[in-house]
Amino acid sequence: MSVSIVVGSQWGDEGKGKVVDLLSSKVDIVARYQGGANAGHTIKIGDKQFIFHLIPSGILHDNVICIIGNGVVIEPKALLEEIEMLEQNGITLEGRLFISHNAHLIMPYHKLLDSINESGERKIGTTGRGIGPSYIDKYARKGIRIADLLNKEILKEKIRTNLKEKNNLLKKVYEHEELNVDEIINECLDFDRKIDKYITDTSAYLNDALEQQKSILLEGAQGALLDVDHGTYPYVTSSNPTSGGACTGTGIPPTKITKVIGIVKAYTTRVGLGPFPTELFDEDGKKLAEIGVEFGATTGRPRRCGWLDTFLVNYSRRINGINRAVITKLDVLSHFENIKVCTAYEINGKQLKYFPTSEAELSQAKPVYENFKGWNTDISEINNFEDLPHEAKEYLSFIAVKCGFEISHISVGPKRSQTIEL
Ligand code: IMP
Repeated sequence: MSVSIVVGSQWGDEGKGKVVDLLSSKVDIVARYQGGANAGHTIKIGDKQFIFHLIPSGILHDNVICIIGNGVVIEPKALLEEIEMLEQNGITLEGRLFISHNAHLIMPYHKLLDSINESGERKIGTTGRGIGPSYIDKYARKGIRIADLLNKEILKEKIRTNLKEKNNLLKKVYEHEELNVDEIINECLDFDRKIDKYITDTSAYLNDALEQQKSILLEGAQGALLDVDHGTYPYVTSSNPTSGGACTGTGIPPTKITKVIGIVKAYTTRVGLGPFPTELFDEDGKKLAEIGVEFGATTGRPRRCGWLDTFLVNYSRRINGINRAVITKLDVLSHFENIKVCTAYEINGKQLKYFPTSEAELSQAKPVYENFKGWNTDISEINNFEDLPHEAKEYLSFIAVKCGFEISHISVGPKRSQTIEL
């Protein structure tokens, strides 16, 4: 029996999809625990590329059961598209995919309110997928849950009550036209017909599986610095991508967690707004974006790029309890003569003891850098740690020491085979 959590240790887009796919060959169950279709987990198998927004990245392994946990917010259209895409690729889901009856739905008014909010003064640079407004309704206890689909009369009543309120808001505050209640009800009923066979009490399912000594991987979306409690608020997502969220988002108790695996990109990227101390605005930044193909898997937006920030990753290690790390996209750095790594922040000439999560402090923080010589050679086909150039080994050992974890894998390309296991 083992329960491992895979967390993004920066601002998301660390390459969790590839790692979860890789680790899935050794587990029985993979469960997503938070977020929604704002995530875009990319997996490359041969010449084929899959991008998962909601379905766990273990689905490409025939023997793995995949669960969408209670902490996830589900956009019906996005889920149906993903199910269809997998079926077209000959991947059977019945009996392999289970959706929590307690997961919340993203309704059309959530997406609309997300885009209205983004056009106002408090822009965050969201993915526009309705994530924030859906979690707002969850915590305001007005959300529509998967379980509500099972009782049509209650469902219709809840949608009508919610729509009365949302239409008032849309019309009177935002001067937007009202949404049609019957259309939304019909969409939900249609969605229910299509997903009914996947709905279950996933918390009970997971805890039964633990009693049967099964091994489980809990897949986080986004990254620790986008966590609504521990991230760079307000430029965060509306859920808890940190490891604590894995327990509340699945119903697996903290006492059952055996390992926390942090995914660390060999440099840093961020999508959307918010402070980013090691961001590069020069040729190196452009080079990272180009070679690393740094465009959002969900929105296609260009990602902001910068050097690796071990001060930030060390913070992430602490709040997540990371004991193993997977370093991804190391191959992207092969094209640099010199590489920098941030080890500390200074404000007014004084080094900070703790990572600052306030916008005011973080935007003033000046990175303190350590310089490394690049290795300038292609490492994308190397499968053995010993075969890496010594400059790359030095870079990796420095990261492990500065961040305080052991490195278990190094990814040197998007394919499963482009991985070094230590
Ligand atoms: P939301 O999650 O769509 O509300 O967006 C809030 C912030 O999180 C924005 O800065 C997004 O760009 C960022 N974000 C959300 N999901 C992801 C992701 O999967 N990868 C990277 N950034 C994300």
